[in-house]
Amino acid sequence: MAGICKVSFLPDDKTIEVRSGITILAAAGKAGVFVNSLCGGDGVCGRCGVIVRKGTVTGGSTDFFSHEQIQQGHILACEGRIESDVIVEIPEHTRLSGTPEFIEADVHQPPEVRKLAHRQMALAPLVRKTYVELPEPTLDDNQSDLQRLEHGLKDQFKTQGFQMGLKVTRRLPDLLRQNDWKVTAMTGHRGPLTEIIDVEPGKTSRRNMCIAADVGTTTVVCHLVDLCDGQTLGKAGKYNSQIRYGGDIIRRIIHASESGSHDELRKSIVGDLNDLILQLVTKHRLSTKDISLVSVAGNTTMVHLLAGLPVANIRKEPYIGVAYDLPPFRAAETGLQIHPRGLLYCLPCVAGFVGADTVAGILASGMMRDDNVRMLIDIGTNGEIVVGNKDFLVCASASAGPAFEGGECSCGMRASSGAIDHIRLLDADTVLSFSTINSGDPVGICGTGYIDAIAEMLRVGVIDKTGRISAEASPARIRTSSDGQLEYLLTEPEGNGDNPDVTITQEDINNIMRAKGAIFAAESVLLHALNMTFDDVAEVMVAGAFGNFLNVDNSVFIGLLPDVPSEKLRFVGNTSLAGAKMAALSADCYEEIFRIAANTTYFELSTEPTFMYQFVSACFFPHTNLDLFPSVMAALAKKSE
Ligand code: FES
Repeated sequence: MAGICKVSFLPDDKTIEVRSGITILAAAGKAGVFVNSLCGGDGVCGRCGVIVRKGTVTGGSTDFFSHEQIQQGHILACEGRIESDVIVEIPEHTRLSGTPEFIEADVHQPPEVRKLAHRQMALAPLVRKTYVELPEPTLDDNQSDLQRLEHGLKDQFKTQGFQMGLKVTRRLPDLLRQNDWKVTAMTGHRGPLTEIIDVEPGKTSRRNMCIAADVGTTTVVCHLVDLCDGQTLGKAGKYNSQIRYGGDIIRRIIHASESGSHDELRKSIVGDLNDLILQLVTKHRLSTKDISLVSVAGNTTMVHLLAGLPVANIRKEPYIGVAYDLPPFRAAETGLQIHPRGLLYCLPCVAGFVGADTVAGILASGMMRDDNVRMLIDIGTNGEIVVGNKDFLVCASASAGPAFEGGECSCGMRASSGAIDHIRLLDADTVLSFSTINSGDPVGICGTGYIDAIAEMLRVGVIDKTGRISAEASPARIRTSSDGQLEYLLTEPEGNGDNPDVTITQEDINNIMRAKGAIFAAESVLLHALNMTFDDVAEVMVAGAFGNFLNVDNSVFIGLLPDVPSEKLRFVGNTSLAGAKMAALSADCYEEIFRIAANTTYFELSTEPTFMYQFVSACFFPHTNLDLFPSVMAALAKKSE
């Protein structure tokens, strides 16, 4: 057919048909092939390089490739337009595939979740299935069918009343009579009321599952949970397909609001959740109908997109969302494929940039019940920080940029195959050891790798406290990059592979410094506002997938984490997911999470007069005030002896 081209992607071996003239990036998106596209297709990040093995592709900047690479067919996927049938290879360093590394990130499951799993906390799921055997009506007992059902249920519910939709009410008389008055009521928590969501024939109360989901900017993780006993049956995760619209929230908001593509982003996240739900139910031999609720924690933009709410105002001063505390609604309204009448519970947000993931983290950490003041830090594109105890909770969001997720760094990549995640230097000339995700050939560096590399470069004198690379430190490894800045060579490819040298440039170091500076400054601003120091904080909890893989010593050494005694520092895993699960399993927790959101005071850092001072002070390794980092000061002093 004229104007239709066949596009085959290697090594995925996926082929689709597209209209001629569309970009390779758009075609890859349609084919479900992930291509690293940090700038969302603006042609400025250079991350979407692919190789056209066969066929005609036009356009595309040549800035990012050598003459030899251009001859071989290298092109930016976001700029190359398909003009004929083509075969396109996605090189390893451009790929974003497979399962993210941190599906198991709740290894440090907060005690509250463990207690729930062991039934030490009241298990009262948001959606319940209750089997009832009702007495047949008589002339003396002539309640309506609905009254009879409600009567049969009422002893088992703490509720101010029941409500039932017309659709189910219409089916009720036949259901009751055809099943000898023995039915299972599926009920959903709706604040003070309980909705009789559906009525099923006979006894089906044992099949009642939920999906607890953490919808992050980079990854989406789902747990399949049995609502009858609180046990987690399965876990699945994938990269957020919205990545093709940009690596960070702001690019996604721009794409959604300015290109009129809001629905594309909504469908994208719904599609990801449906993929994971299907994966889980298939593996566990269930039906999507067995899933009666989805409990979602995510940042404010992700929750808005999932609910189909406009996001444009979140990025415009004063950074306001449409709604922070959504009521439960029918999951099918969003396109989620679970029980057709199942409910979607989106957990509440606090502000445009402090979302349900943070509130869920507070719930899961239990800090809102503690006498002692604790700090919760979630490191990602935005670093969210919460400080508080049973009397108060304050929070802030520091825009760290995507550096810790591999963005805006020359060899940065997400924690996928081939990313250097840990590295040690013997001296300025010698890499002692390094590891990569999945033990692949090194093709880039992920966030934890950057933290290690920069700490090591500081230790062996490749950089100083200002982060400046010293050209004399290692003539063998320090060289000038093609754009004229100094760079430090970590690894070279073996043989003649397509993989690049893995280097850290001066600009990369500056980016990491700004990212960690923003997070530390936010911590300092909150403590300053409370007239406290880190000495007043009983525990610093580091949440998020990233936290699990951090080298603590190196994180402190560069000034990302505070220099507190090691027993005060705890990695708490994916608290967003843990909170989503707790809310699903316990109506009390669900109610509590709304109280937490309402009682958490948000600090807008852009209007906080001390933020810039704190930020500038933190833009050193580890900090301009070394008194805040006694262990680092001691280590550096020892080295200079
Ligand atoms: S240059 Fe193509 S996505 Fe950034």
